[in-house]
Amino acid sequence: MDGVDLKGHKVWLRDWRPVDLEPLRDLLDPARPWHETNGPYFGRPTAADADSKALKLVAPSTDLPDPRTSLAVTDLNNGRLIGQVSWYWESAQTDWRRLGLVIYDERYWGGGFGTEALRLRTTYLFSRTDALRLDFATFSGNPGMIAIGRRLGFVEEARFRRARRWAGGVHDAVVYGVLREEWEQLNAPRASRHR
Ligand SMILES: CC(C)(COP(=O)(O)OP(=O)(O)OC[C@H]1O[C@@H](n2cnc3c(N)ncnc32)[C@H](O)[C@@H]1OP(=O)(O)O)[C@@H](O)C(=O)NCCC(=O)NCCS
Repeated sequence: MDGVDLKGHKVWLRDWRPVDLEPLRDLLDPARPWHETNGPYFGRPTAADADSKALKLVAPSTDLPDPRTSLAVTDLNNGRLIGQVSWYWESAQTDWRRLGLVIYDERYWGGGFGTEALRLRTTYLFSRTDALRLDFATFSGNPGMIAIGRRLGFVEEARFRRARRWAGGVHDAVVYGVLREEWEQLNAPRASRHR
């Protein structure tokens, strides 16, 4: 399989490259604000954790998995590395995949980059697998991620009320999912919708 190369209007999702290492180290810095909404209840990584994560992500490999577990999210306009899309098994035994998205660079928040990255990633995963569904998990303290799910047509499938109590706050855990046929309908060319 050739390298993965997914272009939208704003973002370009591609395989990691060695040149990403230094910008990625900077973006994964434990002091950056993205840690505040990205599973903050798991605690911030140490600098050593962040560094080993960066090295692992950009390590050259001749044997990348299909579909890719992780892709770099870059600004299509200037090539800058801004985030990552990923997926992991919620349950490999039952073919249940869960999506991950982080726009690490806070200067890009609210600009539609996350929405387009998740749209491209979801289409890619449905096209490279026979998955029946895809979903992501977040919490009620992350309105940006919830807005992305709603905007793309994901359905709120689970809300575990008051499941996240930490640091003096209480939040719901939420899961948004989409079925393959819903995604195909939502993203079909306009003329073929609502048949
Ligand atoms: C959450 C995140 C992925 C959103 O990506 P983004 O590029 O900022 O989102 P977009 O610009 O595509 O915006 C999508 C929607 O979210 C809304 N939104 C974005 N950030 C928001 C915020 N902090 N509060 C409220 N709404 C917000 C936008 O207004 C937009 O809503 P709309 O569709 O109604 O106009 C990004 O901010 C991020 O990575 N944050 C840090 C890490 C994180 O939380 N990752 C997700 C873990 S589950």
